[in-house]
Amino acid sequence: MRRWSELDPEHPGARHRLAALGGLPAPDRAPDEYVETLFDAVAREFDPHLAGLRYRAPELVADRLAQLVGEPGGSLAVVDVGCGTGLAGALLRPWASTLVGCDLSLGMLRRAQRRGCYDVLHKAELGTFLAAQHTAYDVVVSVDTLCYLGDLTEITTAARGALRPGGWLLATVEELDGTRGEPWRLTTSGRYAHAEGHLRDITAAAGLVDVRVGRVHLRLEAGLPVEGLLWSARRPLDG
Ligand SMILES: C[S@@+](CC[C@H](N)C(=O)[O-])C[C@H]1O[C@@H](n2cnc3c(N)ncnc32)[C@H](O)[C@@H]1O
Repeated sequence: MRRWSELDPEHPGARHRLAALGGLPAPDRAPDEYVETLFDAVAREFDPHLAGLRYRAPELVADRLAQLVGEPGGSLAVVDVGCGTGLAGALLRPWASTLVGCDLSLGMLRRAQRRGCYDVLHKAELGTFLAAQHTAYDVVVSVDTLCYLGDLTEITTAARGALRPGGWLLATVEELDGTRGEPWRLTTSGRYAHAEGHLRDITAAAGLVDVRVGRVHLRLEAGLPVEGLLWSARRPLDG
C-alpha cells in the first residue's frame, strides 16, 4: 500500500487506504473519488452480497420511522442521502409523497433507478446536496453511509437546514467504543466508526431535539455482528 502511494502520491484511494492502516494521519472524511470508485465497482453485486451479510440497517430505520411518525400515509417529503441501490428507499416509499435519493456513485444510482421507488435521483455529495435544500423535507435518512465521513458536525447542521420544522433526521453509524474519548475513528476497513457522545454533541450543537441513540446490529462481518448506532433527532417545531 505504501508502495502504491509512493508511485502515485496524490491517488485518493491509495492515500485513504494507507491512512486506514495507520501510515498517514486520518483525514476527516473519505475522498469522494474513493467512494465513487469503490461503489461503482461493487454496485452489481451489492444487493445479493448484503443479503448474505444479513444486512438489517434499512429495516431498522424504517421501524424507527414508524415509531416516530406512525403508520405510512404517503404524505411526507423524504430524502435518502447515500441511497445506494435503494434498499432503504423501497421500505421508506409508503411514507413518502416524494422520495428523493442522492449518491456519489453512478453505478449505485442506476440500480436505484431500476428499483423504481424514487421520484428523483441526484448524483451528488450528500453534504453539498443537503446544504442546498432549505426546509425541503419532513424526513432526512442516511443508512450505512455516514461511515464514509469522520466528523459529522457539518452534515448534521446541513440536515437541520434541509428539514422542515418538526422534521426528522434518521441515520445509522458503526459504533466506536467511546472509552478513549475519541469522537470518531478511521478503522482499518477504510470506514469510520462514531461514538455515541459525538452524535449527542453534534445533535445538540445543530439545535436538534428529541434525540435517541440506540445500539443495533447492522450486519455480519466475518460471521460476527457489526455493532452500530441507530440515531434519530428532530428539528424543533419553532426553530
Ligand atoms: C454502504 S452503501 C449504503 C447504501 C444504502 N443506503 C443502503 O442502505 O443500502 C453507502 C452508499 O453511500 C454512498 N456515499 C458514501 N459517501 C457519500 C457521500 N459523501 N455523498 C453521497 N453518497 C455517498 C456510496 O456511494 C454508497 O452508495
